[in-house]
Amino acid sequence: MSTIKVVNDKAITEAAEILKSGGIVGMPTETVYGLAGNALDGAAVARIYAAKGRPAFNPLIAHFASLDNILHNINLEEKTLNGGFLGGQEQIEGEGEGEGEGEGERRSLLEIVQTLAHAFWPGPLTMVLPRAESSEISELATAGLETIAVRIPDHPVARDLITACGFPLVAPSANKSGSLSPTTPAHVAEGLGEGVDMILAAGACKVGLESTVLDLSGDRPVILRPGVITAEDIADVLGLDDPHSLINVDSGDGLQAPKAPGILLKHYAPDTPLRLSAVDLEAGEALLAFGSDKFMGIKSVPFLCKKKANRDMTSGFARDLPEEMRQNLSEEGDLHEAAANLFAMLKALDKAGAKRIAVMAVPEVGLGVAINDRLRRAAA
Ligand code: TXA
Ligand code: MG
Repeated sequence: MSTIKVVNDKAITEAAEILKSGGIVGMPTETVYGLAGNALDGAAVARIYAAKGRPAFNPLIAHFASLDNILHNINLEEKTLNGGFLGGQEQIEGEGEGEGEGEGERRSLLEIVQTLAHAFWPGPLTMVLPRAESSEISELATAGLETIAVRIPDHPVARDLITACGFPLVAPSANKSGSLSPTTPAHVAEGLGEGVDMILAAGACKVGLESTVLDLSGDRPVILRPGVITAEDIADVLGLDDPHSLINVDSGDGLQAPKAPGILLKHYAPDTPLRLSAVDLEAGEALLAFGSDKFMGIKSVPFLCKKKANRDMTSGFARDLPEEMRQNLSEEGDLHEAAANLFAMLKALDKAGAKRIAVMAVPEVGLGVAINDRLRRAAA
């Protein structure tokens, strides 16, 4: 059994030490218990997915203790949202020339974030925001997306733990994939058992329902997951006339049924096509290896590579490819390491100017199921 510790200063220090060394901890929040790990550490994030037995890498929420720390990780520069949905707001200079109804007045995302943060944080609201290029949050935590989900939990233990760590914590609900979210430390222990290094016990969760997820990365705010903070609450704070505009994904005037979160959720896909289960390489292809690629050959086929430097590799061995054309998810065939590297390596290879990315097979077991799920989506 994992260690359940009743919360006190010593237990928080101990949990922070576990998190600093890459461990995962059951953490109370006001909504549900989270399974926390260092948001900057891809290997810790991979352990979270493995413990949950998630068949897919859904992006995780990064938990912070202050808005200041969030601002380093998101890119709000000059981004504005459609004024038609935000109703009656002040005009932003130089932006008033929109066409059609509902355009014309735009409101800065920074102001919207500050307004929502002031009203609801700390609390059960998660905002999905454009990710800053300089953000050090693990690519696995955001599943390779250009957005990042953030919130400040309204539980002193969660905030104390984040502060003691000095880094943000990603925390999905601390249950096995497909089970109910846990609202007591006993639920966490029953559900995850040995998969978690420590559980910080602080009684039952006040809210008992996961946070409301609000997407602010598009042209207007959209609720991806309903929660105790309702469309009406958000509309009130933002001065919206019609709370339905938050759940209605249709931008026209006809009302449309809200789409399910699964449909709204985007998946990361590289621009370069992918070829899965590759056993050899074609000339012009970049390689995403898993395990040893020592004896992988390159078939000599005439080809044209976008980048001059890579054009001469028309035969020979994969191991002689220039570094930018060759990445290995895990030479030892470790699925945790592979998961942690997946999105960052795909992104790096996507920049190599290859005609295609050949991907070696990853076994369909444990974290391999989620890795293959993402590879298949990226190849589709
Ligand atoms: O109340 C909560 O939010 C709890 C506590 C522990 O904070 N956490 C939680 O996490 O419910 P999880 O992983 O079970 O749910 C996160 C939700 C998922 O529906 C996920 O798809 C969505 O947030 N999400 C995370 N990052 C996203 C992103 N970049 N874009 C869109 N949706 C995102
Ligand atoms: Mg969940």
